[in-house]
Amino acid sequence: MQTPYYLIDKARLLPNLEKIAWLRENSGAKSLLALKCFATWSVFDLMSDYMDGTTSSSLYEVRLGKEKFAGETHAYSVAYADHEIAEVLEHSDKILFNSIGQLQKFADASEGHIRGLRVNPGVSTSEFDLADPARPFSRLGEHDPAEIAQVAEQISGLMFHNNCENDDFDRFDEMLALIEDRFGAVIHKMDWISLGGGIHFTGEGYPLDRLAARLKSFAQTYGVQVYLEPGEAAITGAATLEVTVLDTMHNGKNLAIVDSSIEAHMLDLIIYREPAKIAPNTGDHEWMICGKSCLAGDIFGEFRFAAPLKAGDRLSFQDAAGYTMVKKNWFNGVKMPSIAIRELDGTVRLVRDFDYDDFAAALS
Ligand SMILES: Cc1ncc(COP(=O)(O)O)c(C=O)c1O
Repeated sequence: MQTPYYLIDKARLLPNLEKIAWLRENSGAKSLLALKCFATWSVFDLMSDYMDGTTSSSLYEVRLGKEKFAGETHAYSVAYADHEIAEVLEHSDKILFNSIGQLQKFADASEGHIRGLRVNPGVSTSEFDLADPARPFSRLGEHDPAEIAQVAEQISGLMFHNNCENDDFDRFDEMLALIEDRFGAVIHKMDWISLGGGIHFTGEGYPLDRLAARLKSFAQTYGVQVYLEPGEAAITGAATLEVTVLDTMHNGKNLAIVDSSIEAHMLDLIIYREPAKIAPNTGDHEWMICGKSCLAGDIFGEFRFAAPLKAGDRLSFQDAAGYTMVKKNWFNGVKMPSIAIRELDGTVRLVRDFDYDDFAAALS
């Protein structure tokens, strides 16, 4: 298959999904895929066997969730526009507002729909200011319990999203206790609570049983249906970006230029200034892997190999599913990676290719 392409491996996706299903069975918590993280719908059939639906951040995501993923469809947006609201309602089972202002503004339009409100508990686990929903002056949700209590009659659920790649159960537990302390009274009035995404519960060694027990007792204490909104946890490790070395150079370091671009095809890594991952990353030869865009810093990282690289060598960047495929772009007109799926029986099928027409159609 012609590189570059994203390769989603169902055999690597499945263990995550099995943990998600186990958690539901043992805690009662439903899991909705966060489409902002991963929206490659060709594997939604498999995912929907283990998950309960999707959650979204925009009209287009909520529509995709409704059309492509069986189960419940939650709509959320930092702000809905007047011209979007009817379609958002049409495509969703529940609508979550980010502010009391938006809840009031669309009170009539959303009458009779299941409604919720995002709450900002003021604590989070984000290591990056850029991604911290509880950062100072955050616009992500209402924070005042008294103000939220005043609109409690208009809603039946709340959404808290304050975990970010959190693989520490004790920290999750502590933060949930803070949420209970501050918002317990209003939670008691609700039918459902979403605890958002960011809990890295599919990771190796995560105490899933403790998480299940905590979620179950939370649900019982408040008489609520708990939802989780895993993005990263659902697809972690499930995809690679397959590339080919086009050229090599030496300028103080060994440089290999590949037929892809971190700026265009793994943008999230550049934003957070993190290198891509190559496995096993061992050997005597160190090479800087560079993208083919003209951005000077279009560099995937420095990795170790058993032998010197040469044009034609194939490389595979790990963990290319989350916040990667959803952010790919046409910078420099670099060929957009195709999308391929490795089925459970090992066969690989190409599900999407992109060409010049797609590039041209993205602008006008
Ligand atoms: C409201 C909400 N839910 C779910 C998620 C998914 O988070 P993650 O991919 O870290 O699990 C996010 C991520 O930003 C979010 O903002």
